[in-house]
Amino acid sequence: MTFPTGRAVLAAAAAIASFSIATNLHAHGDVTPQPVDTTALPDIAGGNDAWTTENPYTGNAKAIEIGQSAYGQNCARCHGLEAISGGIAPDLRYLELGSSGDEWFVERFRHGSSHDGKVYMPPFGDVLGQKAGWAIRAWLESKHTDE
Ligand code: HEC
Repeated sequence: MTFPTGRAVLAAAAAIASFSIATNLHAHGDVTPQPVDTTALPDIAGGNDAWTTENPYTGNAKAIEIGQSAYGQNCARCHGLEAISGGIAPDLRYLELGSSGDEWFVERFRHGSSHDGKVYMPPFGDVLGQKAGWAIRAWLESKHTDE
């Protein structure tokens, strides 16, 4: 009678293992980029083919609102809730305001960051698009701090 009992124990162990893997994945968040509805925002000349290097949505209340939710769904799992970093990725509240901050932001947003064959941040430009990118930047500007 030990054989069936052993199998039952094994099955239970396997169930626990797969459950904890699933929980783990969940804790790391969904790695699929979440689409952002930007239809309420003014179009940007050039669409996704010609990216501007200065945020056209700075101070735009609608963009800030859309950007906050887009950030929460796509960036917070690494950069932290409310843009307050828990340490695994840079704290985006410190990103410089103005055009040099814009340039750096859009470079990372479009292309992400990889070195030595490891992806530190995936690229978002093609999947989320220019309007979503600048909306997130507009929200981050509203969270900016120098402290
Ligand atoms: C998988 C984790 C991850 C996700 C998701 C992620 N990032 Fe990053 N991001 C990083 C890491 C790690 C770095 C630092 C990369 C380096 O130094 O090479 C970084 C760097 C940046 C930088 C440059 C910051 C600096 O101070 O130099 C910006 C801007 C940025 N991310 C924006 C975003 C935005 C916007 C999103 C969501 C659309 C996002 N990231 C999603 C991990 C992530």
